[in-house]
Amino acid sequence: MHASIGPDGRTHALAPDTVVVTSGRPARTPGGPVNPPVVLSSTYVSQGTPADGELVYARSGTETWVPFERALADLEGAAQPALVFSSGMAAIAAAMSLVPHGGRLVLPRHSYQVTLGFAADLAARAGVEVVDVDIADTAAVAAALGGPRPASLLWIESPTNPMLEVADVPALVAAAHAAGVPVAVDNTFATPLVQRPLAWGADVVVHSVTKYLAGHSDVVLGAVVVDDAALRERFLAYRSLHGAIAGPWEVWLALRGLRTLALRIGRSQESAAELARRLAAHPKVAHVRHPSLPDDPGHERATRLMSGYGSIIAIRPVGGAAAADALVGALQVWVPATSLGGVESSLERRRRFPTESATVPDDLLRLSVGIENVEDLWADLSHALSTL
Ligand SMILES: Cc1ncc(COP(=O)(O)O)c(C=O)c1O
Repeated sequence: MHASIGPDGRTHALAPDTVVVTSGRPARTPGGPVNPPVVLSSTYVSQGTPADGELVYARSGTETWVPFERALADLEGAAQPALVFSSGMAAIAAAMSLVPHGGRLVLPRHSYQVTLGFAADLAARAGVEVVDVDIADTAAVAAALGGPRPASLLWIESPTNPMLEVADVPALVAAAHAAGVPVAVDNTFATPLVQRPLAWGADVVVHSVTKYLAGHSDVVLGAVVVDDAALRERFLAYRSLHGAIAGPWEVWLALRGLRTLALRIGRSQESAAELARRLAAHPKVAHVRHPSLPDDPGHERATRLMSGYGSIIAIRPVGGAAAADALVGALQVWVPATSLGGVESSLERRRRFPTESATVPDDLLRLSVGIENVEDLWADLSHALSTL
Protein backbone atom coordinates (compact mmCIF):
# COMPACT_ATOMS: atom_id res chain seq x y z
CA MET A 1 0.00 0.00 0.00
CA HIS A 2 1.40 3.42 -0.86
CA ALA A 3 -1.66 5.70 -0.87
CA SER A 4 -4.54 6.43 1.50
CA ILE A 5 -7.82 8.32 1.42
CA GLY A 6 -7.64 11.63 3.27
CA PRO A 7 -10.46 13.53 5.08
CA ASP A 8 -11.17 15.32 1.77
CA GLY A 9 -11.99 11.93 0.22
CA ARG A 10 -9.01 12.15 -2.13
CA THR A 11 -6.11 9.74 -2.50
CA HIS A 12 -2.87 10.93 -0.92
CA ALA A 13 0.55 9.42 -1.46
CA LEU A 14 1.90 8.05 1.80
CA ALA A 15 5.20 9.40 3.10
CA PRO A 16 8.22 7.13 2.59
CA ASP A 17 8.55 6.49 6.34
CA THR A 18 4.99 5.13 6.25
CA VAL A 19 5.58 3.15 3.04
CA VAL A 20 8.46 1.20 4.66
CA VAL A 21 5.92 -0.07 7.19
CA THR A 22 2.81 -0.53 5.04
CA SER A 23 4.03 -1.81 1.67
CA GLY A 24 4.36 -5.52 0.90
CA ARG A 25 1.76 -6.69 3.43
CA PRO A 26 -0.69 -9.51 2.69
CA ALA A 27 -4.28 -8.55 1.84
CA ARG A 28 -6.31 -7.88 5.01
CA THR A 29 -8.44 -10.91 5.72
CA PRO A 30 -9.93 -11.82 9.09
CA GLY A 31 -7.58 -14.29 10.75
CA GLY A 32 -4.92 -13.70 8.10
CA PRO A 33 -1.29 -12.90 8.96
CA VAL A 34 0.03 -9.32 8.95
CA ASN A 35 3.34 -10.50 7.53
CA PRO A 36 3.89 -12.47 4.32
CA PRO A 37 4.71 -16.15 4.80
CA VAL A 38 8.01 -17.79 3.86
CA VAL A 39 7.23 -20.44 1.28
CA LEU A 40 9.81 -23.21 1.05
CA SER A 41 9.07 -24.91 -2.23
CA SER A 42 11.36 -25.28 -5.20
CA THR A 43 8.51 -26.28 -7.49
CA TYR A 44 4.76 -25.75 -7.89
CA VAL A 45 1.86 -27.95 -8.90
CA SER A 46 1.61 -27.54 -12.62
CA GLN A 47 0.56 -29.45 -15.72
CA GLY A 48 -0.04 -28.55 -19.31
CA THR A 49 0.86 -25.09 -20.55
CA PRO A 50 1.13 -22.82 -17.47
CA ALA A 51 -1.26 -19.85 -17.37
CA ASP A 52 0.21 -16.35 -17.52
CA GLY A 53 1.87 -15.55 -14.17
CA GLU A 54 1.39 -19.10 -12.82
CA LEU A 55 4.29 -20.14 -10.58
CA VAL A 56 6.12 -23.18 -11.98
CA TYR A 57 9.66 -23.36 -10.63
CA ALA A 58 11.30 -21.24 -7.92
CA ARG A 59 14.30 -20.16 -9.99
CA SER A 60 11.95 -18.21 -12.24
CA GLY A 61 9.61 -16.86 -9.59
CA THR A 62 8.36 -17.42 -6.07
CA GLU A 63 5.73 -15.66 -3.98
CA THR A 64 8.30 -15.00 -1.25
CA TRP A 65 10.10 -12.36 -3.38
CA VAL A 66 6.94 -10.45 -4.25
CA PRO A 67 6.27 -8.40 -1.05
CA PHE A 68 9.87 -7.18 -0.85
CA GLU A 69 9.93 -6.36 -4.58
CA ARG A 70 6.68 -4.41 -4.18
CA ALA A 71 7.91 -2.49 -1.14
CA LEU A 72 11.24 -1.52 -2.72
CA ALA A 73 9.49 -0.38 -5.92
CA ASP A 74 7.10 1.76 -3.85
CA LEU A 75 10.04 3.34 -2.04
CA GLU A 76 11.97 4.05 -5.24
CA GLY A 77 8.77 5.33 -6.88
CA ALA A 78 9.12 2.71 -9.65
CA ALA A 79 6.35 1.81 -12.06
CA GLN A 80 7.40 -1.87 -12.00
CA PRO A 81 8.05 -4.26 -9.10
CA ALA A 82 11.75 -4.45 -8.21
CA LEU A 83 13.75 -7.61 -8.89
CA VAL A 84 15.55 -9.17 -5.97
CA PHE A 85 18.93 -10.83 -6.66
CA SER A 86 21.25 -13.10 -4.67
CA SER A 87 23.63 -10.21 -3.87
CA GLY A 88 24.36 -6.61 -4.74
CA MET A 89 27.02 -7.84 -7.16
CA ALA A 90 24.49 -10.12 -8.90
CA ALA A 91 22.24 -7.07 -9.36
CA ILE A 92 25.20 -5.06 -10.65
CA ALA A 93 26.14 -7.84 -13.09
CA ALA A 94 22.57 -7.80 -14.42
CA ALA A 95 22.61 -4.01 -14.90
CA MET A 96 26.05 -4.18 -16.53
CA SER A 97 24.61 -6.61 -19.09
CA LEU A 98 23.38 -3.43 -20.84
CA VAL A 99 26.99 -2.97 -22.00
CA PRO A 100 27.53 -5.05 -25.17
CA HIS A 101 30.76 -6.75 -26.21
CA GLY A 102 33.09 -4.02 -27.43
CA GLY A 103 30.94 -1.33 -25.74
CA ARG A 104 32.01 1.63 -23.67
CA LEU A 105 31.33 1.95 -19.94
CA VAL A 106 31.73 5.27 -18.12
CA LEU A 107 31.94 4.88 -14.34
CA PRO A 108 33.21 6.70 -11.23
CA ARG A 109 36.88 6.04 -10.55
CA HIS A 110 35.89 5.61 -6.91
CA SER A 111 33.06 3.14 -7.42
CA TYR A 112 32.75 0.23 -5.00
CA GLN A 113 35.96 -1.71 -5.60
CA VAL A 114 34.24 -4.92 -6.76
CA THR A 115 32.22 -2.89 -9.29
CA LEU A 116 35.59 -1.67 -10.57
CA GLY A 117 36.76 -5.28 -10.63
CA PHE A 118 33.66 -6.24 -12.61
CA ALA A 119 34.39 -3.46 -15.12
CA ALA A 120 38.00 -4.67 -15.45
CA ASP A 121 36.68 -8.16 -16.13
CA LEU A 122 34.34 -6.79 -18.82
CA ALA A 123 37.34 -5.06 -20.41
CA ALA A 124 39.40 -8.26 -20.39
CA ARG A 125 36.60 -10.66 -21.37
CA ALA A 126 34.37 -8.62 -23.65
CA GLY A 127 36.62 -5.91 -25.08
CA VAL A 128 34.69 -3.21 -23.22
CA GLU A 129 36.38 0.18 -23.02
CA VAL A 130 36.17 1.33 -19.41
CA VAL A 131 36.40 5.09 -18.87
CA ASP A 132 37.00 6.12 -15.23
CA VAL A 133 35.69 9.58 -14.39
CA ASP A 134 35.50 11.95 -11.44
CA ILE A 135 31.75 11.63 -10.97
CA ALA A 136 31.61 14.97 -9.10
CA ASP A 137 32.90 16.75 -12.23
CA THR A 138 29.71 17.00 -14.30
CA ALA A 139 31.40 18.61 -17.32
CA ALA A 140 34.12 15.94 -17.45
CA VAL A 141 31.52 13.14 -17.24
CA ALA A 142 29.43 14.76 -19.99
CA ALA A 143 32.54 15.02 -22.18
CA ALA A 144 33.33 11.33 -21.62
CA LEU A 145 29.85 10.21 -22.73
CA GLY A 146 29.64 11.41 -26.31
CA GLY A 147 32.10 11.61 -29.18
CA PRO A 148 32.44 9.37 -32.23
CA ARG A 149 31.91 6.28 -30.04
CA PRO A 150 29.20 7.14 -27.47
CA ALA A 151 29.09 5.30 -24.18
CA SER A 152 26.87 2.22 -23.81
CA LEU A 153 26.15 2.97 -20.15
CA LEU A 154 26.82 5.66 -17.55
CA TRP A 155 27.29 4.15 -14.09
CA ILE A 156 26.76 6.44 -11.09
CA GLU A 157 27.44 6.05 -7.40
CA SER A 158 26.58 9.00 -5.19
CA PRO A 159 27.99 9.40 -2.62
CA THR A 160 30.88 7.25 -3.86
CA ASN A 161 32.32 4.36 -1.90
CA PRO A 162 34.58 5.15 -0.05
CA MET A 163 35.52 8.71 -1.08
CA LEU A 164 32.05 10.24 -0.56
CA GLU A 165 32.07 12.38 -3.70
CA VAL A 166 28.58 13.69 -4.41
CA ALA A 167 27.39 13.62 -8.04
CA ASP A 168 24.86 15.98 -9.59
CA VAL A 169 22.73 12.98 -10.56
CA PRO A 170 19.90 14.88 -12.34
CA ALA A 171 22.42 16.88 -14.42
CA LEU A 172 24.33 13.69 -15.30
CA VAL A 173 21.13 11.87 -16.31
CA ALA A 174 20.15 14.81 -18.54
CA ALA A 175 23.62 14.88 -20.17
CA ALA A 176 23.61 11.12 -20.69
CA HIS A 177 20.14 11.06 -22.20
CA ALA A 178 21.02 13.97 -24.50
CA ALA A 179 23.86 11.75 -25.78
CA GLY A 180 21.54 8.70 -26.02
CA VAL A 181 23.28 6.92 -23.14
CA PRO A 182 21.31 4.93 -20.51
CA VAL A 183 22.09 5.52 -16.83
CA ALA A 184 22.36 3.10 -13.92
CA VAL A 185 22.68 4.36 -10.34
CA ASP A 186 23.98 2.32 -7.42
CA ASN A 187 21.75 3.78 -4.69
CA THR A 188 23.16 1.64 -1.87
CA PHE A 189 24.76 4.47 0.12
CA ALA A 190 21.83 6.87 -0.05
CA THR A 191 18.81 4.48 0.00
CA PRO A 192 15.47 5.59 -1.51
CA LEU A 193 14.71 7.54 1.67
CA VAL A 194 17.56 9.93 0.84
CA GLN A 195 17.48 10.07 -2.97
CA ARG A 196 15.31 8.56 -5.70
CA PRO A 197 17.24 8.40 -8.98
CA LEU A 198 14.29 7.12 -11.06
CA ALA A 199 12.49 10.42 -10.36
CA TRP A 200 15.46 12.15 -12.03
CA GLY A 201 15.08 9.92 -15.06
CA ALA A 202 17.71 7.26 -14.32
CA ASP A 203 16.97 4.05 -16.22
CA VAL A 204 18.17 1.55 -13.63
CA VAL A 205 18.70 1.62 -9.87
CA VAL A 206 20.69 -1.13 -8.16
CA HIS A 207 21.09 -1.89 -4.48
CA SER A 208 23.23 -3.95 -2.24
CA VAL A 209 20.25 -4.85 -0.04
CA THR A 210 22.88 -6.35 2.27
CA LYS A 211 23.51 -2.84 3.59
CA TYR A 212 20.90 -0.32 4.82
CA LEU A 213 17.77 -1.89 3.33
CA ALA A 214 18.16 -5.16 5.25
CA GLY A 215 20.14 -3.28 7.89
CA HIS A 216 21.25 -5.97 10.36
CA SER A 217 24.37 -7.47 8.72
CA ASP A 218 22.68 -10.86 8.55
CA VAL A 219 21.90 -11.33 4.86
CA VAL A 220 23.60 -10.85 1.49
CA LEU A 221 21.10 -9.70 -1.12
CA GLY A 222 20.70 -7.32 -4.07
CA ALA A 223 18.02 -5.66 -6.15
CA VAL A 224 17.42 -3.96 -9.50
CA VAL A 225 14.65 -1.38 -9.87
CA VAL A 226 13.40 0.06 -13.19
CA ASP A 227 10.38 1.93 -14.54
CA ASP A 228 10.37 0.38 -17.97
CA ALA A 229 8.44 -2.90 -18.39
CA ALA A 230 10.61 -4.20 -21.26
CA LEU A 231 13.78 -3.49 -19.28
CA ARG A 232 12.34 -5.36 -16.31
CA GLU A 233 11.58 -8.35 -18.55
CA ARG A 234 15.17 -8.27 -19.73
CA PHE A 235 16.58 -8.29 -16.18
CA LEU A 236 14.06 -10.93 -15.12
CA ALA A 237 15.29 -13.15 -17.96
CA TYR A 238 18.88 -12.40 -16.91
CA ARG A 239 18.12 -13.47 -13.32
CA SER A 240 16.52 -16.74 -14.40
CA LEU A 241 19.20 -17.55 -17.01
CA HIS A 242 22.04 -16.88 -14.58
CA GLY A 243 20.26 -18.37 -11.58
CA ALA A 244 21.22 -15.29 -9.55
CA ILE A 245 18.29 -15.81 -7.20
CA ALA A 246 17.71 -14.97 -3.56
CA GLY A 247 16.77 -17.49 -0.88
CA PRO A 248 13.32 -17.11 0.70
CA TRP A 249 14.60 -16.56 4.25
CA GLU A 250 16.96 -13.80 3.15
CA VAL A 251 14.19 -11.94 1.37
CA TRP A 252 11.87 -12.28 4.35
CA LEU A 253 14.60 -10.95 6.67
CA ALA A 254 15.27 -8.06 4.29
CA LEU A 255 11.60 -7.08 4.34
CA ARG A 256 11.59 -7.25 8.13
CA GLY A 257 14.71 -5.06 8.18
CA LEU A 258 13.12 -2.61 5.77
CA ARG A 259 10.29 -1.94 8.26
CA THR A 260 12.69 0.07 10.45
CA LEU A 261 14.64 1.73 7.63
CA ALA A 262 13.31 5.22 8.32
CA LEU A 263 14.11 4.99 12.04
CA ARG A 264 17.58 3.60 11.39
CA ILE A 265 18.44 6.09 8.65
CA GLY A 266 17.15 9.03 10.70
CA ARG A 267 19.19 8.06 13.74
CA SER A 268 22.40 7.11 11.97
CA GLN A 269 22.41 10.19 9.72
CA GLU A 270 21.97 12.45 12.72
CA SER A 271 24.77 10.70 14.63
CA ALA A 272 27.05 10.73 11.55
CA ALA A 273 26.70 14.51 11.17
CA GLU A 274 27.46 15.03 14.85
CA LEU A 275 30.47 12.70 14.80
CA ALA A 276 31.79 14.28 11.57
CA ARG A 277 31.61 17.73 13.23
CA ARG A 278 33.55 16.51 16.27
CA LEU A 279 36.09 14.57 14.19
CA ALA A 280 36.75 17.63 12.01
CA ALA A 281 37.78 19.54 15.15
CA HIS A 282 39.97 16.75 16.57
CA PRO A 283 43.75 17.36 16.53
CA LYS A 284 44.51 13.69 15.74
CA VAL A 285 42.33 13.75 12.60
CA ALA A 286 43.98 15.21 9.50
CA HIS A 287 41.00 15.02 7.15
CA VAL A 288 37.27 14.28 7.33
CA ARG A 289 34.75 13.82 4.55
CA HIS A 290 31.05 13.89 5.23
CA PRO A 291 28.64 15.87 3.06
CA SER A 292 27.07 17.46 6.16
CA LEU A 293 30.21 19.52 6.83
CA PRO A 294 29.75 23.06 5.47
CA ASP A 295 33.20 23.04 3.84
CA ASP A 296 32.84 19.56 2.32
CA PRO A 297 33.06 19.70 -1.52
CA GLY A 298 29.75 17.78 -1.74
CA HIS A 299 27.86 19.89 0.83
CA GLU A 300 25.97 22.23 -1.49
CA ARG A 301 24.95 19.40 -3.84
CA ALA A 302 23.92 17.07 -1.04
CA THR A 303 21.86 19.85 0.56
CA ARG A 304 20.12 20.43 -2.75
CA LEU A 305 19.63 16.83 -3.87
CA MET A 306 19.54 14.55 -0.84
CA SER A 307 17.22 14.27 2.19
CA GLY A 308 20.08 14.12 4.66
CA TYR A 309 23.79 13.50 4.26
CA GLY A 310 24.12 9.74 4.69
CA SER A 311 25.80 7.91 7.52
CA ILE A 312 29.20 7.04 6.08
CA ILE A 313 32.17 9.17 7.13
CA ALA A 314 35.70 8.98 5.70
CA ILE A 315 38.61 10.09 7.88
CA ARG A 316 42.40 10.16 7.64
CA PRO A 317 44.03 10.14 11.08
CA VAL A 318 47.29 11.97 11.73
CA GLY A 319 50.11 9.42 11.40
CA GLY A 320 49.18 7.59 8.20
CA ALA A 321 48.16 3.96 7.63
CA ALA A 322 49.87 2.68 10.81
CA ALA A 323 47.85 5.16 12.90
CA ALA A 324 44.67 4.17 11.04
CA ASP A 325 45.29 0.49 11.83
CA ALA A 326 46.06 1.36 15.47
CA LEU A 327 42.83 3.34 15.72
CA VAL A 328 40.79 0.40 14.40
CA GLY A 329 42.52 -1.89 16.91
CA ALA A 330 41.84 0.41 19.87
CA LEU A 331 38.06 0.62 19.42
CA GLN A 332 35.68 -1.42 21.55
CA VAL A 333 32.17 -0.35 20.55
CA TRP A 334 32.88 0.16 16.83
CA VAL A 335 33.26 -3.18 15.04
CA PRO A 336 36.32 -3.70 12.85
CA ALA A 337 34.68 -5.18 9.76
CA THR A 338 34.01 -4.59 6.12
CA SER A 339 30.50 -3.81 4.84
CA LEU A 340 28.27 -1.00 6.11
CA GLY A 341 24.70 -0.02 6.78
CA GLY A 342 24.09 -2.33 9.75
CA VAL A 343 22.63 -1.30 13.10
CA GLU A 344 26.15 -1.65 14.52
CA SER A 345 28.80 0.98 13.83
CA SER A 346 31.78 -0.42 11.96
CA LEU A 347 34.91 0.76 10.24
CA GLU A 348 37.82 -0.37 8.14
CA ARG A 349 40.89 0.90 6.34
CA ARG A 350 39.91 0.42 2.71
CA ARG A 351 43.38 0.07 1.22
CA ARG A 352 43.95 -3.08 3.29
CA PHE A 353 42.36 -4.64 0.20
CA PRO A 354 44.94 -4.74 -2.61
CA THR A 355 42.06 -4.36 -5.09
CA GLU A 356 40.95 -0.98 -3.69
CA SER A 357 41.50 1.93 -6.07
CA ALA A 358 45.07 3.30 -5.85
CA THR A 359 43.71 6.86 -5.65
CA VAL A 360 42.00 6.06 -2.32
CA PRO A 361 44.51 7.25 0.32
CA ASP A 362 46.34 4.45 2.10
CA ASP A 363 45.28 5.78 5.52
CA LEU A 364 41.59 6.38 4.72
CA LEU A 365 39.15 4.84 7.19
CA ARG A 366 35.54 4.36 6.15
CA LEU A 367 33.18 4.63 9.12
CA SER A 368 29.63 3.29 8.93
CA VAL A 369 27.60 4.91 11.70
CA GLY A 370 24.96 2.68 13.26
CA ILE A 371 22.19 3.35 15.76
CA GLU A 372 24.02 3.15 19.09
CA ASN A 373 24.00 6.10 21.49
CA VAL A 374 26.09 8.80 19.81
CA GLU A 375 27.92 9.67 23.06
CA ASP A 376 29.07 6.05 23.41
CA LEU A 377 30.30 6.11 19.82
CA TRP A 378 32.16 9.37 20.44
CA ALA A 379 33.65 8.22 23.75
CA ASP A 380 35.01 5.10 22.04
CA LEU A 381 36.38 7.08 19.08
CA SER A 382 37.91 9.88 21.10
CA HIS A 383 39.52 7.41 23.52
CA ALA A 384 41.00 5.44 20.60
CA LEU A 385 42.24 8.67 19.01
CA SER A 386 43.91 9.67 22.28
CA THR A 387 45.99 6.45 22.21
CA LEU A 388 47.60 7.35 18.87
C1 LIG B 1 28.04 0.68 -2.99
C2 LIG B 1 28.03 -0.83 -3.07
N1 LIG B 1 27.46 -1.43 -4.12
C3 LIG B 1 27.43 -2.76 -4.23
C4 LIG B 1 28.00 -3.58 -3.27
C5 LIG B 1 27.97 -5.08 -3.47
O1 LIG B 1 26.95 -5.64 -2.74
P1 LIG B 1 26.96 -7.14 -2.16
O2 LIG B 1 28.09 -7.20 -1.17
O3 LIG B 1 25.60 -7.30 -1.57
O4 LIG B 1 27.21 -8.05 -3.33
C6 LIG B 1 28.58 -3.01 -2.15
C7 LIG B 1 29.19 -3.87 -1.10
O5 LIG B 1 29.95 -3.41 -0.26
C8 LIG B 1 28.60 -1.58 -2.05
O6 LIG B 1 29.18 -0.97 -0.99
